Amino acid sequence: MNKVYNGDSRRLLEILPKDVLIQTTITSPPYFDMKDYGVEGQVGFGQKYEEYLDDLKDIFAQIHTITKDDGTLWIVIDTFKRDQAVVTLPFDLVQKLKEVGWKLQEIIIWKKDKTVPWSSKGFMQRKFEYVLFFSKGDNYKTNKDQVRIYDTQQLKKWWVKYPERYNPKGKALDEIWEFPIPVQGSWGAEYIRHFCPLPKEMVATMISISTDEEDVVFDPFAGSGTVMSQSAYMKRSYLGIELNPQYIDMFETYLTSTIENGKKEYNSNVNATDQVEFETLIQNLRALKYGRILLNSIEKDCGINNLKIYVQRIIDTSISSKIKVEYTFIGKQFDDELYKRIYAYTSKPPLSKYGIMPTFKCCLDLCMLDAEIYLYSKTNSHSYLRNCDYTDPKVKIISPIKVDLYEKDYE
Ligand SMILES: C[S@@+](CC[C@H](N)C(=O)[O-])C[C@H]1O[C@@H](n2cnc3c(N)ncnc32)[C@H](O)[C@@H]1O
Repeated sequence: MNKVYNGDSRRLLEILPKDVLIQTTITSPPYFDMKDYGVEGQVGFGQKYEEYLDDLKDIFAQIHTITKDDGTLWIVIDTFKRDQAVVTLPFDLVQKLKEVGWKLQEIIIWKKDKTVPWSSKGFMQRKFEYVLFFSKGDNYKTNKDQVRIYDTQQLKKWWVKYPERYNPKGKALDEIWEFPIPVQGSWGAEYIRHFCPLPKEMVATMISISTDEEDVVFDPFAGSGTVMSQSAYMKRSYLGIELNPQYIDMFETYLTSTIENGKKEYNSNVNATDQVEFETLIQNLRALKYGRILLNSIEKDCGINNLKIYVQRIIDTSISSKIKVEYTFIGKQFDDELYKRIYAYTSKPPLSKYGIMPTFKCCLDLCMLDAEIYLYSKTNSHSYLRNCDYTDPKVKIISPIKVDLYEKDYE
């Protein structure tokens, strides 16, 4: 384990340790007949297209047999031009892999910032490659929540006003991934030109989605070893095969010099509280907005404008994904009519879609306010009011929850 073997991937079952079980394979196969990686026995260089496709099919069939039942496969691959026409390699390969049991689950576009220097001229610039994601079975490991986007600067400003539309764990990844091609760094320009290494952030995303710590990650065309080194940083086991022994030496030197920093970076990402903070923020925004919408609706129905609502989150240690919130109407007695109106609004969308498990109370005055409180208006529950006290008629929501957000900060 944790080794790149020097050999021909067509013989991978003979090369790898006998009882190994792979969780995910991440690879970019050698280009077809365009690039000489400088050794005998290459897949791609000097082959006919059908031979090349059949070799890839055979390699991925062998991988299928040693992949766990909930395992997966990522292939980064591109079309190319021959005889003035596009050859649809990714789609031809998908057909071949179907025949050996792989199920195509996702087609992702990897949007690059640059075009590869040897791509044939067309009337448009080539700016993307395909990332094909396959599973062995119907139930396969995907840690979707770990790769959600919760960096608020990357979300459109709408999350501030419409928190109910955002998953508290963040926005799901979409099918277009933007990662620049690595161009500099410790590899040196010469090395890069020979390889096209995958961007390490893209590999990290794939590893996070499809494996947990200690799972085995495999790359049958290890090249510069991006998949291997990223797996090592992320506490996964790795196995690789590479035909050119020089590349393996370079990878080993690179890993030795980067492992410490790589692990540090990974640990700081794993321990980041940002995602928990985002989740709390979205939940708080939802809790306040729910109270505001409900209060406004009831006031409108009853033709009154003297109600306020006290909003308090209840600490919940159960595993329920719902947000428990207590809402206290101030300035009104609880009666059948209020109950009916509350029920009418909270049992149907939009409020029933907020993920909130509410309880309701009434109280006639504000005497219970000894906690530190924040005040919000009829129209805005995402930035609290300054310079007024809770008796002010424009104060409609009173809460220990503090949020202070401005949409324009996120435009
Ligand atoms: C596109 S590169 C892989 C680049 C790699 N993903 C990275 O990040 O550096 C393909 C690699 O496959 C290797 N290769 C070609 N034929 C092979 C074979 N039959 N068995 C194993 N490796 C092979 C080449 O030497 C080359 O390093």
